[in-house]
Amino acid sequence: MISAEQNELMTRIGAGTPAGRLLRRYWQPVAIADELDAARPVKAVRLFGEELVLYRAAGGYGLMQRHCPHRGADLAYGRLEPDGLRCSFHGWKFDAAGNCVETPAEPEGSRMCEQIRTVSYPVVEKSGVLFAYLGAGAPPAFPHFDCFVAPATHTFAFKGYWDCNWLQALEVGIDPAHASWLHKYFEDEDPAASYGRQFRGTPADSSLPISKVLREYDRPEIRVERTEYGMRLQTLRKLSDAQTHIRVTNVLFPQAFVIPMNAEMTITQFHVPVDDTGCYWYSIFTSFGAPVDKDTMRAQRLKTYPAPDYKPIFGRANGWGFNAEEQRTRTFTGMGFDINIHDQFACESQGPIQDRTRENLGSSDKGIVLYRRILVDAIRRNEAGETPLMVVDDAQARTLTGPPAIDGIGPSARVEEYWKETDAVRRRQAAWAA
Ligand code: FES
Ligand SMILES: [Fe+2]
Repeated sequence: MISAEQNELMTRIGAGTPAGRLLRRYWQPVAIADELDAARPVKAVRLFGEELVLYRAAGGYGLMQRHCPHRGADLAYGRLEPDGLRCSFHGWKFDAAGNCVETPAEPEGSRMCEQIRTVSYPVVEKSGVLFAYLGAGAPPAFPHFDCFVAPATHTFAFKGYWDCNWLQALEVGIDPAHASWLHKYFEDEDPAASYGRQFRGTPADSSLPISKVLREYDRPEIRVERTEYGMRLQTLRKLSDAQTHIRVTNVLFPQAFVIPMNAEMTITQFHVPVDDTGCYWYSIFTSFGAPVDKDTMRAQRLKTYPAPDYKPIFGRANGWGFNAEEQRTRTFTGMGFDINIHDQFACESQGPIQDRTRENLGSSDKGIVLYRRILVDAIRRNEAGETPLMVVDDAQARTLTGPPAIDGIGPSARVEEYWKETDAVRRRQAAWAA
């Protein structure tokens, strides 16, 4: 249980707040590249409570304040030109660096535009996700994590909106116990039909459906530890004296986790504030085996999180699709078979910002407890003018690799060695990670 003050400190991300200042020191997902795959690649976006317009021009991506600094017209309806965006009220034009480069309604020879700048932020594309830097000073380097170094053929990016604060969305990913409950299916499916879906295939080195492992071994042992990139969790389900199922998952500080999807793919998922009470998850699926079948992955996910806004078809307004008969006979939640909807229910039903003064944490919440310590520590350091965790330069970024995210069944007596070997073998065999 924590105080109301600490809950506010951790969750509020406005420009003048301590967590807002901290999170602005990192590259933050602002869109997936698919969103600008349009005849007119211009899109209004809201990020950290700021109203912005994102566009792609011949010279690259631009992201700026949505309201024109002349008299406030909406640049999301501006005219896209090869080297910038032009306001459709009086024709002022802005480049990607935020410079006003033309004020065509002013008298001939006017140099007024030299004095005008708008708020703008740099944008780069990594593995199908557009990342923006909203902070002051130079942005940090990108760590050489698998999701960023894998080739485009072996990654796929998608996103979805959840109507709640970003922190409770992140916390579901560092809560390994819930997978045996929230995502419990009463029947297993043919693992061969599981492509692109979580908790439906088989763990590495096993033919047991993962849904059966989660269902039948529902009191996992959880181990957590700090790492140079955030934290690592190990979740052990002892199947017998001889065999243990292990999941190795990670937090990439500040707002992402890396988890295994199956023996072949991992998911790196960022939880990014739209404002204090809404967030998007951005997932980068990374394959160590075959190239990703992006069309199949996209079609599966668009069914519940349709473009152009990637807002779910189920939510508070329709009880997350709850069906009592399904809950009795087929799933633990009664909310269908898309695990993203289950997680969405878990987070959204806590309220817009979870009141953590009223919670009672158990032993299975140790990942959440450690993460909050790391977060509060980083907020304090940043406020004190120190460099917080993961604000790194190029040399440090090169040392931040992996991290291993494993789902497998190995010998109980040497499970630590088992997951490290499994990771090493998978890397050796991958076309890009050797
Ligand atoms: S309001 Fe944009 S040019 Fe006048
Ligand atoms: Fe989940």
